[in-house]
Amino acid sequence: MKTAIVIGVGPDRGVGAQLCKRFANDGLKVIVAGRTLSALESVARDIVAAGGQAVPFVADATKESDVAALFDAAGSELDLAIYNAGNNTPGKIVEMDADYFEKAWRVVCFGGFLFGREAVRRMAPKKAGTLLFTGASASLRGRPGFGAFNSAKAGLRTLAQAMAKEYAPDGIHVAHVVVDGAIAGDKIMNRFPDAADRQDSLISIEGIVDAFAFLYRQPERAWSFELDVRTSKEKW
Ligand SMILES: NC(=O)c1ccc[n+]([C@@H]2O[C@H](COP(=O)([O-])OP(=O)(O)OC[C@H]3O[C@@H](n4cnc5c(N)ncnc54)[C@H](OP(=O)(O)O)[C@@H]3O)[C@@H](O)[C@H]2O)c1
Repeated sequence: MKTAIVIGVGPDRGVGAQLCKRFANDGLKVIVAGRTLSALESVARDIVAAGGQAVPFVADATKESDVAALFDAAGSELDLAIYNAGNNTPGKIVEMDADYFEKAWRVVCFGGFLFGREAVRRMAPKKAGTLLFTGASASLRGRPGFGAFNSAKAGLRTLAQAMAKEYAPDGIHVAHVVVDGAIAGDKIMNRFPDAADRQDSLISIEGIVDAFAFLYRQPERAWSFELDVRTSKEKW
């Protein structure tokens, strides 16, 4: 059975959880990975209850040994790996601790390197596999108050682009999804109580998941590196 790893899984109404559910529904066994066991177990339980296969796996994306163990657990049928970890880290540069900036980079960019490297190490010998990264508006544009997150997401995007070129000859499809705006999920709903009143300016999680599923299904002679998704209301 083909296996997918999704790292960066949180609440049910989040991109990570819904990516797991979609690919399980499409017939893959899913390794549901992240830091918070209760969230991972909940997603895996729902998948199994719906007749799919899923295994929760606690891993911190910034820890080399965790990431290697995660890929060992996935086994030889690994076909899809998705790097979705990356909470926003707002703050003005002059008020920012060096440690805060470095931590943001570790989760968003360095973790993408650890994850991407392990994925390619496993996929290249088989000459097949798909490696997808979740981006944000920050991947393309610097904005006041978001310098740490902007620089880390931009670094992740160019890492993904370098990997796409480096490993296409090995049959590995590497791609990046720019999520250009706020998502209609738990993160935004919990932080901004009025968000429910402006749903039409929040990106649909299902639409984002569709973009990942489309990239995964692309034939080898028609690969995209990048898709961007935004609402019709977004000023970009
Ligand atoms: N939310 C938005 O409006 C928005 C907009 C544009 C782009 N994005 C991007 O879209 C992706 C998904 O966002 P989402 O808001 O829907 O979140 P989500 O997919 O529901 O959850 C992402 C999860 O990543 C996990 N994570 C953070 N650091 C980690 C680490 N070091 N190791 C393993 N897991 C880690 C977090 O787990 P914990 O629960 O343990 O913190 C969080 O629950 C992210 O890459 C984000 O940057 C989000």
